[in-house]
Amino acid sequence: MTLEERFQTLSRHRQAHAERVAAVMRALAQQHHLDEELAWFGGWAHDLAREMSRPALLAEAETLGIVIGPEEQAEPLLLHGPIAAKWVERAGRGTPQVLEAIRYHTTGAANLGPLAQALFIADGVEPGRRYALREALYLQALEDLNGGYCAVLKNTQAYLLSRGLAPHPDMVRALDQCTAGTVQDTH
Ligand SMILES: [Fe+2]
Ligand SMILES: [Fe+2]
Repeated sequence: MTLEERFQTLSRHRQAHAERVAAVMRALAQQHHLDEELAWFGGWAHDLAREMSRPALLAEAETLGIVIGPEEQAEPLLLHGPIAAKWVERAGRGTPQVLEAIRYHTTGAANLGPLAQALFIADGVEPGRRYALREALYLQALEDLNGGYCAVLKNTQAYLLSRGLAPHPDMVRALDQCTAGTVQDTH
């Protein structure tokens, strides 16, 4: 199946979300001098595996050779980013930056490049989301990509904690780095 065919299998609501994320990615890319087409594509592709069932995600991860950690075993939905990244890679459509972005869009991670920071932000602040801080976080990210990324991470952590959920270890490491103020641009 091509990536376009996979996109067409998604619900209208998921397609619309992906298109809004792609549009926010383009805006962030313009503002921060990133590759606009790559940014748009990352947004478009990030949730290609989001509507698979949990058993199907586990099976597909195994087929693709993706390491399934204890968190992913407990919540296979966490695999939808890594699986979409592998599909994009196998379709020959990815750069390391866009693969990293898609792979980590759910949890964030330490040492993410700017495109991956942008996708984590865009997924959280696209205009279809409804929460009080959404627009303020988007405006912050347009000004300061890393600051916006850390703010969206903190907001996500607060949301998870309010629901009694533990943040993923990759998110904890990303937050630690934000607190230490030592995020390095490795790209
Ligand atoms: Fe997602
Ligand atoms: Fe998403």
